[in-house]
Amino acid sequence: MDSFEFNKISAAVLSGILLIMVLSMASDVIYSKPTSDKLAYSVEVPETTAAAGAEAVKAPSLAELLQNADIGRGEKEFKKCVACHTSAKGEAHRMGPNLFDILGRKMASADGFGGYSTALKGEDREWSYDLMDQWLKAPKSVVSGTSMAFAGIRKPQSRANLIAYLRTQADTPKDLPAVEAAAEEVEEAPATE
Ligand code: HEC
Repeated sequence: MDSFEFNKISAAVLSGILLIMVLSMASDVIYSKPTSDKLAYSVEVPETTAAAGAEAVKAPSLAELLQNADIGRGEKEFKKCVACHTSAKGEAHRMGPNLFDILGRKMASADGFGGYSTALKGEDREWSYDLMDQWLKAPKSVVSGTSMAFAGIRKPQSRANLIAYLRTQADTPKDLPAVEAAAEEVEEAPATE
């Protein structure tokens, strides 16, 4: 058979399949409507609440994301920072300060870095895991007057990977935050260092 004829046949077959799909979808709509209407009042509200609740439970905490973090990916993520930051011990400051041993350190306290904004210099907080996560998501949400021109990293796991990498850039990496989860879950995922 030539290719034109083949095309005609396959077109016919495809439209047949399409028609069946449309018909079956239409019949689903027609026949299922009465039942779903009836249930809408009693079931829909609890269902959405339950779904939202389940999602909230499912979204992993920063501590969990850090447990599962991929340091290698975090190092790649750090490429977004290297225009302005170094991270190894003793490396020079760039437009931003060297980030060696940044976790747990007081904000704006890198030795010999003169480029801090007055906003960051005025801070008295330390770089906790949580603060670092917020900072990497949106620096201005942590210190509104910061001069760090960085849009932020949207994906929570990408931020966790990067934080896990930054954590390794220290003589003694800080303890990871404890995962507050069901005991069984913790046992399933033993701490990997
Ligand atoms: C365009 C340059 C630029 C980029 C890109 C950038 N930073 Fe910064 N960063 C800065 C500057 C400038 C400061 C000082 C901000 C201030 O004083 O308000 C800073 C400050 C910081 C601080 C606070 C340091 C301290 O001593 O308190 C951290 C942490 C930080 N940056 C992490 C990162 C990470 C991680 C990335 C990559 C995701 C990144 N930055 C990307 C310029 C940059």
